[in-house]
Amino acid sequence: VSLATYNTFRFDYSAEYFAIAESIDSLKVLLAWAKHFQKRVTMIGGGSNLLISADVSGLVIINRLSGINAREHAGNLVSLTVAAGEDWHKIVEYAVAQRWYGIENLALIPGTTGAAPVQNIGAYGVEIKDVLARVQVINRNTGDVYWINGRDCGFAYRDSYFKGQWNDLLLITSVELSLKKQSELLLSYGGLSERIEGKPNIQAVFDTVCRVRSEKLPDPAVLANSGSFFKNPIVSKIQHDELKECFPNLVSFPFEGGFKLAAGWLIDQAGWKGKQYQGVGVYEKQALVLVNHSETKATTLLELEAQIKQSVFDKYGVHLEREPVQLPLGMEILK
Ligand code: EPU
Repeated sequence: VSLATYNTFRFDYSAEYFAIAESIDSLKVLLAWAKHFQKRVTMIGGGSNLLISADVSGLVIINRLSGINAREHAGNLVSLTVAAGEDWHKIVEYAVAQRWYGIENLALIPGTTGAAPVQNIGAYGVEIKDVLARVQVINRNTGDVYWINGRDCGFAYRDSYFKGQWNDLLLITSVELSLKKQSELLLSYGGLSERIEGKPNIQAVFDTVCRVRSEKLPDPAVLANSGSFFKNPIVSKIQHDELKECFPNLVSFPFEGGFKLAAGWLIDQAGWKGKQYQGVGVYEKQALVLVNHSETKATTLLELEAQIKQSVFDKYGVHLEREPVQLPLGMEILK
């Protein structure tokens, strides 16, 4: 089966075995089958944070688990339980329509709800970890289903244990968000407060985030991409201060004792913005996003990535790290 329609880069590699799971029971049957035949299992949600660069052996399961359930508690708290296959943006829309606060800044992020904790999605000063009470998982080997508290998932900037050490063990089946009936709005990041039109309420924040994102990020349904292709690198204060001396316009933010640099700025200033390389390129409005105009395989994108990394390292001495997950897993080690 071709995976071209299951990854937003639209790279055309195939899965040896392929299934769509719509319930936990069918997921259990699929995992048991894979265990019996000793097939590796790879799960895909929306495919919007994936770089598939070879055929995937074993069983690929598309996560389409559906259903949402809200519990309003006495006091300020609302617990929203969402099955992993639900579209994330739809959940944000739903929460905003109910006036439940917490995820309005995370509007218009492509992908499924179950994929969101894997890379700890974030935008405009909010990360999903901030509102994530629990994550429901299924153990790949035993089929056991259980909950893990959000604080135990190793969340960090665009990272979690699901992306790392738990990858071979657990698949996400559901998440429980803790939302609030009343809360402050977070407007201090990414120029939100200046861009907001009218009275800043939850709907206005949602509308502004949607507008800003659609102005500078390509819609994967129109132009194939996987959002930010690199993480914003984190450097020490010393390295930051040295860079700032050579590059006074450097865009950076204090972060955990050091500084986070805007990778988009580094790549842009190194001359890459809008550059084409065969059928792929650097997006013209945001240099952190790589786009695929016409390639069916990942080879040229990987070449472009290597050139950008080298050029940024040569100019600033900073290593860029890739953000999307590469499939098949373990490719990086093989390279
Ligand atoms: N910039 C440039 N040139 C560019 C792009 C950016 O100079 O081509 C400068 C901008 O002027 C701005 C700064 O870099 O001052 C930061 O840019 P932006 O506000 O677009 O945010 P970002 O740091 O590039 C991050 C996230 C996005 C998230 C936005 C908003 C990462 C890797 N990316 O981007 O997340 O939407 O902040 O909060 O952390 C994603 O992860 O896929 C993603 C889109």
